[in-house]
Amino acid sequence: MQCVRLFVQFVVLVFCCVGVYAQHVSFDSDWKFHLGNAADAAKDFNYSIAKTFDKTGKAKGTCIAPDFKDSNWTSVSLPHDWVVGLPFTFNTNRDVDAHGYKPVGGLYPENSIGWYRKSFTIPAADSGKRISLEFDGIYRDSKIWVNGFYIGANFSGYLGCRFDITDVVKWGGNNVVVVRADASQYEGWFYEGAGIYRHAWLTTQNNLHVQPDGVFIQTAIKDKVAEITATVAIDNKNIAAGQCLVSAYCIDRLGKIVARSAEQQVSISANGSASLQLRSFISAPHLWDIDDPYLYRVITVIKNKGSIVEQTTNRFGIRSIVIDSARGLLLNGKSIKIKGVCCHQDHAGVGSAIPTHLQYYRIGLLKEMGANAYRTSHNAPSPDVLDACDSLGLLVLDETRLLNSSNEYLQQFAQLIRRDLNHPSVLMWSIGNEEEMAQDNSYGKRIAQSMIALQQQIDPTRTCTYGANNGSILTGVNEVIPVRGVNYFLDAIDAYHLKRPSQPVIGTEVGSTVTTRGIYVKDTSSAYVPDHDITYPHWATTAEKWWQWAYGRPWFMGGFVWTGFDYRGEPTPFKWPNISSHFGIMDMCGFPKNNYYYYQAWWSNKDVLQLSPHWNHSGKNGQMIDVWVNSNAAEVELFLNNKSLGEKTMPVNGHLQWSVAYEAGVLKAIGYKKGKQFQTQIETTGVSSQIKIEADQANVSAGDAVIVNVSALDSNGRSVPDADNEISFFIEGDATIIGVGNGDPSSHEPDQIAVGQYKRKLFNGRCQLIIKAGSKGMFQIKAAAANILPANISVQIANKK
Ligand code: GAL
Repeated sequence: MQCVRLFVQFVVLVFCCVGVYAQHVSFDSDWKFHLGNAADAAKDFNYSIAKTFDKTGKAKGTCIAPDFKDSNWTSVSLPHDWVVGLPFTFNTNRDVDAHGYKPVGGLYPENSIGWYRKSFTIPAADSGKRISLEFDGIYRDSKIWVNGFYIGANFSGYLGCRFDITDVVKWGGNNVVVVRADASQYEGWFYEGAGIYRHAWLTTQNNLHVQPDGVFIQTAIKDKVAEITATVAIDNKNIAAGQCLVSAYCIDRLGKIVARSAEQQVSISANGSASLQLRSFISAPHLWDIDDPYLYRVITVIKNKGSIVEQTTNRFGIRSIVIDSARGLLLNGKSIKIKGVCCHQDHAGVGSAIPTHLQYYRIGLLKEMGANAYRTSHNAPSPDVLDACDSLGLLVLDETRLLNSSNEYLQQFAQLIRRDLNHPSVLMWSIGNEEEMAQDNSYGKRIAQSMIALQQQIDPTRTCTYGANNGSILTGVNEVIPVRGVNYFLDAIDAYHLKRPSQPVIGTEVGSTVTTRGIYVKDTSSAYVPDHDITYPHWATTAEKWWQWAYGRPWFMGGFVWTGFDYRGEPTPFKWPNISSHFGIMDMCGFPKNNYYYYQAWWSNKDVLQLSPHWNHSGKNGQMIDVWVNSNAAEVELFLNNKSLGEKTMPVNGHLQWSVAYEAGVLKAIGYKKGKQFQTQIETTGVSSQIKIEADQANVSAGDAVIVNVSALDSNGRSVPDADNEISFFIEGDATIIGVGNGDPSSHEPDQIAVGQYKRKLFNGRCQLIIKAGSKGMFQIKAAAANILPANISVQIANKK
């Protein structure tokens, strides 16, 4: 059942109203987890010696057996990443540092196998229906059994899998699913986590049903009317041939029916399938746009013998995309520049196991900054990411894991396209990134041709690109890729464009300043770099340099900054003790670094005026401090303790700088823009005197996440920018802390700790808790630290629709 996650409750409601049986319910709760061992069969529950594959359903002597006693296993709920809780471990191996110095992978067999078990019941009344299990993502190389019977495997750590388990379930009885995930080999060169780190689902359907990912919605607008074509693939899993009537209708955001197709009669042989096209029309359609991401839903209805037996709901948007080698990108006929970011999927506290709400939180921060696009580097994203981009209005460059045309990887690419093609946010596909063994030569060209052909066959409505870090090279992938993707080396791209003017060009990786939030002096022992737009690896540039370059070239579609957020692993430009990257415009908690305001000034419509560094420099009286102003004001005047330091004109897409002799007090800026003025100020603060905590939602749905940001105030209520107090956290009520972080790329404090012992130091004044709400009531978060006043905050758990 292809339900859009955000609307699961809604979808179930629709099903209930019309009295049909299909259900798509969360399968996230009540799992048991235990580490196995890739090098020791006895510690791996005898998996490799028990010969479970010689007879069907044979599982005796292993933890796959349904009656295995798992009472001493750890209780977990999904999403779950077992790596984030492992200690940081120094190792000179490059892959270990690339993965954030976590002891997982081939060198650590004792930490690289994860076993999961879950008991569940299927109502006896569902006998005769089809039952499927669906995993949005398991890292990685997973095998799955139900009631001792092997039901399938999934090699990819990023694409999900779905299995029909109807033949092996017990109707009305207890069933056991077992998953073995093997993270012995990495897929990427960045932190990947391990485990069932995305959502899982249980689906109950009629034998006559829409195939998984079996609805492809295409839209075309003519004379202010949108034609909606739903291409629907239906399976008949009955043991006899059957007939059904299939139709579709569209509803708007308020649930009002705005279009209906005709009903079509379909005959399907036993165990066969059929495909048909359903057309309907929406007059004066409300377009999906980045500023107004309006979504419709199409509901596909299957009737058999006069009654509805199945319904499937898909969200979609109506929008047009044109990619032009001279004019760049046109969305709904309007030219827009890609103001994008590349992201990896992990976050502070929780690793790669990101609760749905946290995805919205992260993408919301990017949207606030003025970003309009997100690249899923370098793998299939969680479905939640795409739902969030659809809902909040960001375009997505949706990337498959590997440039490879083997059956395995073509199948992964096909699955990615089929899964994601109804998301209006998806702008284009990416067939890979920086494949140095192939990108310049004929291997790359041929592999790319196979992948492009597959993409065109499945989704002729879009095109694709590839992240090439080879400047003006014309051969290999670049020769055949429809949209040239450029990673860095922008200086070579004018020459490339001149030689191949008819090929559109997009910046698949651009910029890439390395900064540490709130740090202003390079510190090689702590592995910190100043939080200004000045330091970058030799292949990269500053934010200002790439954006000014891109802005002046209408043919350049814009680009994706490496990266939106810091991520674990790739600790550039340092190594240990550094465990995460410094590339982020925000740190791992999503706390903004100064570049955030550079981009916000030039990417958003907000009036931006921001000063850095902070103004706490005791002992530096009279020393010159470089003050940076990020703003989109036309002129800015700076004052120290009410004394003007002069007015300067802001260069377009630039920033301003003053060299100021330090004196404690108030540094203030006034910005002037089109006859209006706005101002900001920073002050020298005292030491921490009380804790401040803020929850991002005061009313949370049962089971949902709350992001809690923590800082310290001085006795005058001012945020202390360099506070480093260690804060302890306690929860009263039905909620659990699932992770803590502070954005310090060299912190080795644990992100996950035993219940009741949660604590974290502030890093440059901030830290963060991720909380999972329970099922009901009010819960309180309390924060305490030595010698300063505590704080607490209450959150209400509500049954939100
Ligand atoms: C790029 C690569 C990214 C990341 C980045 C770090 O070359 O595509 O995945 O490794 O470098 O600068």
